Amino acid sequence: MYKTEITLDVNNEQRTVYVRNADLLLDVLREPLGLTGAKPGCLNGDCGTCTIEVDGETMKACLMLAVEAVGKKSQRLKA
Ligand code: FES
Repeated sequence: MYKTEITLDVNNEQRTVYVRNADLLLDVLREPLGLTGAKPGCLNGDCGTCTIEVDGETMKACLMLAVEAVGKKSQRLKA
């Protein structure tokens, strides 16, 4: 399956990963980046277990594609 190389700014660190266009930010943060602080729960935006901070605003990582996070700063993500 075709993957694109993207670079994400995560916790003030540039991380390069290969993703499919449909990969959720939540899934990419957890694996391959290994940041498991954001948890999968309902996967439809209701429970908030996947909440992260993107450019200073809280976002639900289950509702955001990894490719949408390019050029934004994701913070407060813990392993
Ligand atoms: S997993 Fe429930 S809001 Fe994202």
